[in-house]
Amino acid sequence: MRIVVIISSARKNGNTATIVKSIENETVQYAKNLSVNLDIEWINLFDYELQLCRGCRICFNKGEAYCPLKDGLLNIRDKMIKADGVIFASPVYVEDVNGTMKNFIDRMAFICHRPAFSGKKSIIITTSGGGATSHAIRTISAAIQSWGFNISTKRNFRTGTLMDKEKVELEYSNDIKAIAKNFFDSLYIIEKLIPTFYSLMIFKIQQKNWQKYSKEDNLDYLYWKENGWLSKDCTYYIPNNSTRIKTDVARLVGGIISNIFI
Ligand SMILES: Cc1cc2nc3c(=O)[nH]c(=O)nc-3n(C[C@H](O)[C@H](O)[C@H](O)COP(=O)(O)O)c2cc1C
Repeated sequence: MRIVVIISSARKNGNTATIVKSIENETVQYAKNLSVNLDIEWINLFDYELQLCRGCRICFNKGEAYCPLKDGLLNIRDKMIKADGVIFASPVYVEDVNGTMKNFIDRMAFICHRPAFSGKKSIIITTSGGGATSHAIRTISAAIQSWGFNISTKRNFRTGTLMDKEKVELEYSNDIKAIAKNFFDSLYIIEKLIPTFYSLMIFKIQQKNWQKYSKEDNLDYLYWKENGWLSKDCTYYIPNNSTRIKTDVARLVGGIISNIFI
């Protein structure tokens, strides 16, 4: 199984890296116990020096390959496509993700239209100096759910300015073990795929949108059509174990939102 870590902290041995490393170690342990081979790759967004989105919309209209910014973005996207699960991790800067993570999310906006990660598992980790709100988690969560990710855990760790490994283990050992187990189970036990209400709702909103604006020269419409997601019976990107009632209500709410706003 492949896991990719997308981390946006510039501090290689900072709090975010320390927490994620501990989660990685625990996940590896779970995998070992079940003789599962895990391949984990860290992608430090700071090293990639991704350029800022210029808002030209070429990725939406013509395709991401035509983006005028030639850097490592599509390489990162491809690594994520090959992964079974992704860990997204950012420090909290002024009550949100840091700029490096936000720019990454902005640059990946075309995936909100053409979700390429349906069924992939993820966790979201943020670290903060004090009692941050859940704003940073919401930023990542909204983006990656519209990319198709299923999120098994979202968690902020309060770490102060710099917390060493020993203190992290002392304070958060049980939480880290639980997060790692939950993440590993979500990768290993297929039946665990239960999309959130929000994911089901977003699917319905997008589905209605592309059904409405169906044009054979529209990239997004074609993508949805080719994936079979525009068919009336399709309620999510992939088969899943959501209850009928949850799916129906999510689709009802999504339909209403779509009628009002789109
Ligand atoms: C520019 C900047 C802004 C920050 N803003 C907040 C904040 O709004 N709330 C908070 O609780 N901590 C804030 N912090 C503290 C960091 O979130 C915290 O120390 C985090 O764990 C750093 O992660 P790192 O070691 O991976 O870089 C800020 C730190 C920096 C450098």
